[in-house]
Amino acid sequence: MSMPAPNHDVVADNRTTMQLGPVLPLTAEVKDHHLFIGGVDMVKLAREKGTAMYVFDEADIRHRMREYHDGFKKNYPDAEVLYASKAFLNKVIVKIANEENMSLDVSGGGELAIARAAGFPMERVYVHGNNKTPEELEEAISAGAGTIVLDSRIELSRVDEIARKHGIVQNVFMRITPGVEADTLDYIKTGCEDSKFGFNLRDDFAFNCVGDVLKAQNVRLTGFHMHIGSEIFDLHSYQEAVGVMCNFMARVRDKYGFETKNFDVGGGVGIAYQADDKPTTIEHFTKVVGDSIRSQCKKYGIPEPHVLCEPGRSIVGRAGVTLYTVGILKTLPGIRKYVAIDGGMSDNIRTALYHADYEATIANKADQPRTEIVTLCGKHCESGDAVVLDGSLQKADLGDIVCVFDTGAYCYTMSSNYNGQPRPAIYFVSDGKARLVTRRETYADLMSRDVD
Ligand SMILES: Cc1ncc(COP(=O)(O)O)c(C=O)c1O
Repeated sequence: MSMPAPNHDVVADNRTTMQLGPVLPLTAEVKDHHLFIGGVDMVKLAREKGTAMYVFDEADIRHRMREYHDGFKKNYPDAEVLYASKAFLNKVIVKIANEENMSLDVSGGGELAIARAAGFPMERVYVHGNNKTPEELEEAISAGAGTIVLDSRIELSRVDEIARKHGIVQNVFMRITPGVEADTLDYIKTGCEDSKFGFNLRDDFAFNCVGDVLKAQNVRLTGFHMHIGSEIFDLHSYQEAVGVMCNFMARVRDKYGFETKNFDVGGGVGIAYQADDKPTTIEHFTKVVGDSIRSQCKKYGIPEPHVLCEPGRSIVGRAGVTLYTVGILKTLPGIRKYVAIDGGMSDNIRTALYHADYEATIANKADQPRTEIVTLCGKHCESGDAVVLDGSLQKADLGDIVCVFDTGAYCYTMSSNYNGQPRPAIYFVSDGKARLVTRRETYADLMSRDVD
């Protein structure tokens, strides 16, 4: 993992924080030079409680959940919205998802355990994963998880056997890989033919497996699932994949007499990570999904199914920010300026992993223009450890509080203890109050599983 070559073509954008538009959490505002979110001063919070720290705008999260509900109500009312908990998970977000009438997508036993501990109704839980272990399947089935999304034929026999042991018939979906190339980063494409996920359509493998699922005594096939990738801006690939799936459902109906009641279209819409990004709106996404399902069902002469959608990134991505303190400044003339923060790839692996883009501001200089191009590097022993590569920032001084936007999704859940770094605390802010929802890890936590 190394630092990509500096980009000498980029120039500072001179924007102030409030000019960063689509990356700002819903309640972001600037008062007395400081960035406020949820009515809370980010500088004060960071200095009082310590950095690195994740902060979530609770109003933003609830707003996005409602946007999905409202969008589907308008564009395809027979729909159910699942929160994809892999994007960000702790007990509080599970409770919020429940309060906002979301169902829940969990992947594996750990996510299921958190959902259970938070009291989420198990009948509204959908269990994903390309290699759920037999133990995890046992946990899900014995907990009464509503639906298991089968990912392979091998898994079918495991689920069937465990359900038999429990004397139940388990509802299952089959995850179908529609063979569609989504317009997104290679790392987060999932629906193309060369994918570890799901039943492949090639040589009618998935089609033939439907027969096996229908024959199994202790599973009940209740629907099909697809997921083509994440951070998708161009909804063409969704339309294409919906077409493939509806064709598949029509063939399944003709051959097996099985009418598809539920169709899960996978994750949600992409979000803006850069101030100039123009992702589609949630409302438009629900319209495109609703319209294409209706038209493809008509084309293939199948009834319109109950539709499920499992957004993660677009629910929590924009709501979350990470606060850091500037600890070291290093200028390499003609090469680049490094601003070193007290976190990095341990709390946000996305930049080191696939050069993801982020916008940042100095929270105590939030009303000043971003006049410099800097690399916001982390504190870890990897050259490629950075959160922002060649991005605009106000002139930094030691002790400044840096806020990186859009870190609500796939940052905490992909975090690590690299270099013995305790994971940051998580605060939810709303109505002028900050509440601790996950405490910072301690050094004792780092050793808590070691056996002397
Ligand atoms: C099966 C499944 N569903 C839902 C999601 C959530 O997708 P997104 O965060 O893009 O909405 C993912 C993420 O990759 C996924 O793998």
